[in-house]
Amino acid sequence: MANNRTFTMIKPDAVENGHIGGILAKINAAGFRIVAMKMTRLSSEKAGEFYAVHKERPFYGELVEFMSSGHIVAAILEKANAVEDFRKLIGATNPANAEEGTIRKQYAESVGRNAVHGSDSDENAEIEGSFFFSGLEKF
Ligand code: PPS
Repeated sequence: MANNRTFTMIKPDAVENGHIGGILAKINAAGFRIVAMKMTRLSSEKAGEFYAVHKERPFYGELVEFMSSGHIVAAILEKANAVEDFRKLIGATNPANAEEGTIRKQYAESVGRNAVHGSDSDENAEIEGSFFFSGLEKF
């Protein structure tokens, strides 16, 4: 993915709590175009694969269990400087440290149940987008 695209997931806590619409509205209002989007559910095997980079971290099991506990919304977003601007829009991983106006400040419950994922680099945005979407879906 070029540097004008990023990948996001609306996590099971936010889906369960009815925040899909509110989160998508904030994403649109911040100037992102939704290139591709789907609602799906990860098996624990698939969630483990997606978060394999965190395998050695103490919260890995909890993260995989949570991310496979309910439906998620996966999306590819487009905007200039997408990865960095989207990380600013979602706010700090721990909502206690997230700034006012960010998605996590408004919707996240805790560092684990933190409403949204955002890719941390252009390279990972490409890898993560391709995890969920085929070439034909990423027009
Ligand atoms: S980040 O944003 O990648 O720099 O954050 P990081 O601290 O490296 O965390 C990586 C992902 O793990 C989740 N996380 C946790 N889950 C459960 N329990 C605890 N304590 C915890 N700490 C971090 C965090 O939400 C990140 O998920 P993603 O989907 O990448 O945002």
